[in-house]
Amino acid sequence: MVVIGVLSGKGGVGKTTVTSNIAASLANIFKRKTIVLDTNVTSSHIRLHFGMYDEMKRTLKDVVKSDGTLEKATYSNSITGVDIVPSPEGLKHVDLEKLKSLAGQIAESKYDFVVIDSAPGFRENIENVIKASDKIVVVTNPYLPDVTDAMKIVEMVRKSKKDVVVVVNKIKGKKYELDEDAIKDMLDVRKLITIPEDEKVPESISRGVPVTVFAKGSRAAIALKKLSAELIGEKYSPTVADRVKWFLGF
Ligand SMILES: Nc1ncnc2c1ncn2[C@@H]1O[C@H](COP(=O)(O)OP(=O)(O)O)[C@@H](O)[C@H]1O
Ligand SMILES: [Mg+2]
Repeated sequence: MVVIGVLSGKGGVGKTTVTSNIAASLANIFKRKTIVLDTNVTSSHIRLHFGMYDEMKRTLKDVVKSDGTLEKATYSNSITGVDIVPSPEGLKHVDLEKLKSLAGQIAESKYDFVVIDSAPGFRENIENVIKASDKIVVVTNPYLPDVTDAMKIVEMVRKSKKDVVVVVNKIKGKKYELDEDAIKDMLDVRKLITIPEDEKVPESISRGVPVTVFAKGSRAAIALKKLSAELIGEKYSPTVADRVKWFLGF
C-alpha cells in the first residue's frame, strides 16, 4: 500500500482536482483499490468533486478518535470506484497526529492506495500529512507567488526525505507565465508534470465526476492520467478511443 499526500503552499491551485483525479484514475483506469482521506477542515470539497452532496454525518474525525475505525466513515463512490472519508467541515482544528497510525491501519486493509487531500499552507496538520505519506505531490500554478509558496513546501518535504513530485497546473501557455525551466530552478527539481488549463475541469466539477472519468479524452484528463501512471510506476498513453473523444469534444 502506498500513501500519496497532495499539498500546496497556496490555495486554489488545484489540489482537490489533482487528488480526486489521481484517485479516480487509480481506481477506474488502473484498477487499484483506492481511498481518499479529506483532511481539509476549512474547505472540505473532495466529496463535491465526487458528486456526493448528501450530508455525511461520519467523517475523518470519527476515524482518528481513539476508538475509531476506518469503516466508520467510508463512503463509496460508485461512478469511479473510489472510497472516500470526508473531512469534518466547520471544525476549526482536527488533530491529525494519528494520521500515520491510520495509514498503518489502512495498510492492513484492502486498499492499494491512499490519497490525502489537504488544506493549503503550512499548518501543523501538513507535517502530519507528510509523515503519513510515502510520496508527496506538490501542486502549483505557473506564477511567481505560487511557486514561491511551493518552494517552502518542497523544502519541508525534502527534510522528511520523502519523494516529491511537482505538478504545475492550469498552464495556459501565455508569455506572462513562468516557464518550466524557471520553475525547475526555483524548486530545484529535475522534472515537472504539467497540466493544461482546461474548461473540462470546472465542467466536470459541476457534474460531480472527476475529469479523468467525465471527459476521458480531454487534455487535462490525459495529463492527469499520465501523472497517476507515473506515481505508480506504470506507463499511460491515450487510447484511440481517448483521442477520438478529444477530437469530438467529449
Ligand atoms: N487544469 C485546470 N483547468 C481549469 N481549471 C482548473 C484546473 N485545475 C483546477 N481548476 C479550477 O481551479 C479551481 C480550484 O481548484 P481546486 O482543485 O479546488 O483547488 P485547491 O484544492 O488547491 O483549492 C476550481 O474552480 C477548478 O475548477
Ligand atoms: Mg481543495
